[in-house]
Amino acid sequence: MPSFMPPQDKIKTRYHYLRVKKYLDLPPKSNTVIYHRGGVTHRRDDTDVELDFRQESNFFYLTGVESAGYHVIFQFSTDTIYLVRPTVPLEEQLWKGIPPTDQQLLEKYDVDIVLTENEMNAKLQEINPDIILTMDSTNVAALPPTILPKIDASLLGPAIHEARLIKFPWEKDLLRYTAHISSHAHISLMSAVGRRGSRHGRPFLMNESELEAEFRYVCAKSGLNRQCYIPIIASGERASVLHYTDNNKWIPSDNRHALILVDAGGELTCYGSDITRTFPVTGKFSSEARTIYNIVLKAQKAVLDQVRPGVFWRDMHTLVVKILTQELINIGILVGDAEEIIQLGIYRAFYFHGTGHSIGLDCHDVGGTDIGILSAMKTRKGYPLELFTRPLQANMVITVEPGLYFNDVSIDMWTAASSPYKKYFGTEKIEKYRKVGGVRIEDTILITEIGIENLTIAPKEVNDIEAIMGF
Ligand code: GLY
Ligand code: MN
Ligand code: MN
Repeated sequence: MPSFMPPQDKIKTRYHYLRVKKYLDLPPKSNTVIYHRGGVTHRRDDTDVELDFRQESNFFYLTGVESAGYHVIFQFSTDTIYLVRPTVPLEEQLWKGIPPTDQQLLEKYDVDIVLTENEMNAKLQEINPDIILTMDSTNVAALPPTILPKIDASLLGPAIHEARLIKFPWEKDLLRYTAHISSHAHISLMSAVGRRGSRHGRPFLMNESELEAEFRYVCAKSGLNRQCYIPIIASGERASVLHYTDNNKWIPSDNRHALILVDAGGELTCYGSDITRTFPVTGKFSSEARTIYNIVLKAQKAVLDQVRPGVFWRDMHTLVVKILTQELINIGILVGDAEEIIQLGIYRAFYFHGTGHSIGLDCHDVGGTDIGILSAMKTRKGYPLELFTRPLQANMVITVEPGLYFNDVSIDMWTAASSPYKKYFGTEKIEKYRKVGGVRIEDTILITEIGIENLTIAPKEVNDIEAIMGF
């Protein structure tokens, strides 16, 4: 087990607020406040059973509070941070426990004053701001109606998103820790499948759900008590489905080509990781599986070798596309001239997603606004990095995740008798490799001043994976 400990310091969210304020660039004396409401608990349809609560990421960024029902106010003129706590009725305390005292909240979070909701309204009347910046004009129901005309919901979002793109040292520590622990969880899955199957050299019974449970267990043992997204445990042909999350099928242990694609990353205090490893069900890659796997690995390594500040991500995507296309031509899956195939987008039959994205408080994280993203994408979260119109910078944390997929829907569409592109496909070779299903190799990396720090430490060389699975 890893011997290192999670970062212990409280998250310095005051610096997050100050960075957001800097990006807002308002006149220094303006009587402005930020108001932001945190997430609230929801119940399952027609029951009193609560749904799993996870804090809204922007609220967490500004306060570090993981619980439901809070608000926050930032007063620009004095840089005072007011944390507004819910008033929990005694009956609810009976069921859910006694909430923290104001003193405990002040010790735990990087805020100045704790208020109740009633006190919040009085405080807002007292400040009487000229402008109230909010993320969303619909999330202000708790504010006094007289104050509503002063709301501006257009400026805050871009400033928070820009701030979240570049990580502070304590954010990097958390992201490094989650990536390290998640890497250990990936190793543990390789090892679990190896012990069950390849050692005995005979078919074995194992469900994808068992691997999901193992992944969550290894993460939880080191404090990662949530997952950054629903784990993807895709065995056999399901490895070709990008976001397969049913995780309830039996692993096809009688198919020597079959792979297990595990795309999973744990989360600690809302900071996550996004890692994919693909390994053979039998503990040994078949020759076809190894060929496809090593093509993807070659593309990923080419990007990892080149990423540094100043690089444009779209060039990294182009690099991946070039390598995948040429290699698929080399093994006869694609037929024709590489440039023409790329120009026509035909490689998309086997590679139909982006090469990476920013990650932090969300798996597909926010990042950059009109200064960085093509205008068509401004309103979307989880921007594909290919659309960044600015170069990468130090202290961004991103993923690098090429893949190749033998997805039935995609192959059938591109190679149908009616498809104008049919002649570019080597159908016999596609059949030869189809049983491999899919391969993705994904690392979460930090961009440093001079290159990268790969936060992901799970092995990915064929020999290393086979060695892990053989013990
Ligand atoms: N886990 C989702 C992704 O890789 O983007
Ligand atoms: Mn990803
Ligand atoms: Mn992923």
